[in-house]
Amino acid sequence: MHAAGAAGLRRLTRALGGRADPAAEQGPLPFELNAPYSPTPDNRPIPLDRGRLELTRDTGWQMSFGERAAVEGILTQLRPELALEIGTAEGGCLERIAAHSAEVHSIDLTHEPVTRPLPAHVVLHTGSSRALLTPLLASFAQAGRGVDFALVDGDHSYDGVRADLTALLDSPVTARSVLLVHDTMNAEIRAGIESLQLEEHAKVVYYELDLVPGYVYRDGACHGAAWGGIGLLLTDTSRSPDYPLGPRQTRYYEPFAALQRFRSELLARQ
Ligand SMILES: C[S@@+](CC[C@H](N)C(=O)[O-])C[C@H]1O[C@@H](n2cnc3c(N)ncnc32)[C@H](O)[C@@H]1O
Repeated sequence: MHAAGAAGLRRLTRALGGRADPAAEQGPLPFELNAPYSPTPDNRPIPLDRGRLELTRDTGWQMSFGERAAVEGILTQLRPELALEIGTAEGGCLERIAAHSAEVHSIDLTHEPVTRPLPAHVVLHTGSSRALLTPLLASFAQAGRGVDFALVDGDHSYDGVRADLTALLDSPVTARSVLLVHDTMNAEIRAGIESLQLEEHAKVVYYELDLVPGYVYRDGACHGAAWGGIGLLLTDTSRSPDYPLGPRQTRYYEPFAALQRFRSELLARQ
């Protein structure tokens, strides 16, 4: 999640006028580029100091309360043996993944912002996922292990999310996994995921990019920017013969288009 306000985003959009599409390398970009990651307390709800629910009290988990509840619910059902987080920041989500998992690996450019104590079954890999992810997955594969759960929340660029998801999907360790992607409401992230044509991917048996819909920030450092949202990808070695549909959830209209339209109208009024 990045701190880019509406004015910054409008400047960025204008600046993009003649830039190349990273996929096609020609023509204008079909999405706004995100500003580089810059930590801000404004990219999460203000915590409650004595809320009954622990997930409303965490100061360092860069997700909405609804996203936190969904992650917690998925982890409670799954109870991963082996879990992975790409992009940890202050460690809010990592702490909860660790609470439900037997072993967790975290990849981040820096783990300095993690000041909370982490249990011994958390292993930190410091560096870019571009360099570290594939070898880490290969080491799991060599040991005959499967990754039960992965959260992709690191490099918030088109190429970055593509690279992380491609590495995960290409590896034999995700033969039967639950993969979450954060910030699926963001246009650049969404374009990166859509570019992978998950409908056609042999291993993706189900996916829903607005499992938890994201939001447009009303105020603070991120105001006017569309972020958040959790996408769910389920991988399996074979599809259930009884499931009548393709892997993409098509029962409901996806909130992504509606919220992006709302955002454009909002920015045009400002
Ligand atoms: C939005 S924060 C993660 C928030 C965290 N998952 C949470 O729920 O609180 C994004 C993190 O990704 C990290 N990051 C950015 N590019 C990365 C890369 N190429 N490899 C690994 N981590 C990266 C940043 O350093 C930052 O800590």
